[in-house]
Amino acid sequence: MSASSSTSDRHIAVLGGSAGIGLATAQLFADRGATVTIGGRNRDRLEATVKELGGSARGIEVDAEDADALRTFFDEAGPISDLVVTVTRRGGAGPATELADADLAGAFLGKSVAHLRAVALALPTLAADGSITLVTAASAQAALPGTAGLAAVNGALEAAVAPLAAELAPRRVNAVSPGVVETGWWDDLPADTRHATLAQFASRTPVRRNGRPEDVAAAIAAVLENSFITGVVLPCDGGLRLT
Ligand SMILES: NC(=O)c1ccc[n+]([C@@H]2O[C@H](COP(=O)([O-])OP(=O)(O)OC[C@H]3O[C@@H](n4cnc5c(N)ncnc54)[C@H](OP(=O)(O)O)[C@@H]3O)[C@@H](O)[C@H]2O)c1
Repeated sequence: MSASSSTSDRHIAVLGGSAGIGLATAQLFADRGATVTIGGRNRDRLEATVKELGGSARGIEVDAEDADALRTFFDEAGPISDLVVTVTRRGGAGPATELADADLAGAFLGKSVAHLRAVALALPTLAADGSITLVTAASAQAALPGTAGLAAVNGALEAAVAPLAAELAPRRVNAVSPGVVETGWWDDLPADTRHATLAQFASRTPVRRNGRPEDVAAAIAAVLENSFITGVVLPCDGGLRLT
C-alpha cells in the first residue's frame, strides 16, 4: 500500500489503541475516514473500543512485549500506511533513592524495547512511503524530580527517532512527547493522591491545565499527515518541560 496524502485512503495501526491517547488517536483517524486497526492486550476492552470507533475499525489482541505476538499482529493487520505506538508499562516513576529496587529493566522492556521491536516488525507490512509515530513523554526533556527512570526510558526512545528516520527513509519516523494527560495511566494511584498530583501538575504547567488525550491525538495527526516532517520529537505538554 502506498501512503496517500488523503487520510481516508490510509490504513493506520495503533498499538495501544484501546484506551487513553491511543484511543483518541484511533477515534480521530476513524472520524477522518481512515481504516484503523487497534492493538491491545485486553480483549473485552478492544471489542468495546472497536464498537465505539465504528466503521471499518478492527481490533487485534496483542501483547507488544512479545515479539511473536507482534509478528502475528502485523500479519493479521495486513498492509498499513502508518503505525502509531503508545504502549507502555507503568513502571519507572519514583525518586532516585527508590530506583535501586525499582523494576527498571521491566520499564525499558515495556516501553523502549516494545516500541523498537514494533518498528522493526512493522516494516514488512508498512508502506514504502509510510510513517511511524512513537509516543514518548515530556519527562525525557524536562527536569522533574522523581522522573529519572521515566526520563531514561523515554529519552532512550527519543534518541532513536533521528537515526531511525535516516535509516528507514523515505518512510518517516517521528515522536510526540506528551506532558501530563488525564488518562487511565494514573489509575494506579489512590484516588486522593491522584487528584492532588494531577492538580499540582495542572497548576505548574504554563497553560494551567493538564492535557486531554485529544490534545495528543491532534499532535500525532499533525506529524503523521505532514509528509515533509520526519526525525522530529514534537512536545505536546502545555509547556511542562519548561518548568
Ligand atoms: N497519561 C500521561 O500523563 C502520559 C504522560 C506522558 C507520556 N505518556 C505516554 O503516553 C502513552 C500512552 O499513555 P496513556 O496515558 O494513553 O495510557 P493508557 O490510558 O493506560 O493506555 C495505554 C494503552 O496501551 C495498551 N497497552 C499497554 N501495554 C501494552 C502492551 N504491552 N501490549 C499491547 N497494548 C498495550 C493498553 O491496553 P491493554 O492494557 O488492554 O493492553 C491501552 O490501550 C504511554 O507510552 C505513556 O508513557 C502518558
